[in-house]
Amino acid sequence: MTPPVSPAPIIRKLDDLRALTKTWKAKGETIGIVPTMGALHDGHLSLARMARAATDRVIVTIFINPKQFNNPDDLKNYPRTEHEDARKLASIGVDAIYVPDGAQMYPDGFSTTVSLDALTDVLCGAHRLGHFDGVATVVAKLLLQTSADQAFFGEKDYQQLLIVRRMAVDLDICATIVGCPTVREIDGLALSSRNLLLSDRARVKAPALSEVMQQITKGLAAGETMKTLTPAALTQLDNAGFGDVDYLELRAAADLSLLESPTEPARLFAAVWLAGVRLIDNIAI
Ligand code: PAJ
Repeated sequence: MTPPVSPAPIIRKLDDLRALTKTWKAKGETIGIVPTMGALHDGHLSLARMARAATDRVIVTIFINPKQFNNPDDLKNYPRTEHEDARKLASIGVDAIYVPDGAQMYPDGFSTTVSLDALTDVLCGAHRLGHFDGVATVVAKLLLQTSADQAFFGEKDYQQLLIVRRMAVDLDICATIVGCPTVREIDGLALSSRNLLLSDRARVKAPALSEVMQQITKGLAAGETMKTLTPAALTQLDNAGFGDVDYLELRAAADLSLLESPTEPARLFAAVWLAGVRLIDNIAI
């Protein structure tokens, strides 16, 4: 069946957002939010659909959060496609799109950072200093601004999902953090806004990352360890045209502790560079 088509209002001011959520709450309606940085693809839309199915009202937030970028060029080059994003969301029928600007989120004098002692010093946290402080700070604000009952995050950014969940519990924020499966292209490449930055040539090479990860998974299932599997995997990535590998690691799904083999529920994590674009992926083992 074709989904209902209704363009959602774009809200830029916190006061307007609060006025709207107040009317919803007064009617006893639940609110689900999908925080994003825009350049929406089917991965984002899958979260919006999950929110649509789970809560009475759905807000998609679009804010390219300067506090989580540690590279000014990365922030400058991040794709901005608001008009197109709104069009895509219309096909899902969300109730509002919240697009605050920088001054709305971080007015003059803004001085608070939400920073976690755990989960943040490995994987992307080790390679992007301050990144997860920026994420935790903006997500805490978004959860509070929207009065969300549930918030939907992708397993694509599994470390982020764990960090947000921990932060919400620690700060007594009454929103349930829901993890949603990674959406992939047919060739296995995990959907990402950064894929838009890949040249045609690089895009052809990109699926090798998930292929290599699948091979490691098979090796682990056959009783091999990361120590024996990693060298061949790195060679394969190199041969496939990838550049630096920030990490290729097996870690515990619960607390991200490093593992040699899946002795407990685990995930394989990778961050690799391809033609100047950093691709990340992770899969359950
Ligand atoms: P962004 O990269 O736009 O991602 C928004 C949400 O979409 C995140 O929860 C992310 O995990 C999810 N997502 C991205 N690609 C996905 C895929 N292929 N399948 C399923 N879900 C996917 O993550 C952020 O923005 C920001 O850090 C944010 C949480 C908005 C804070 O600024």
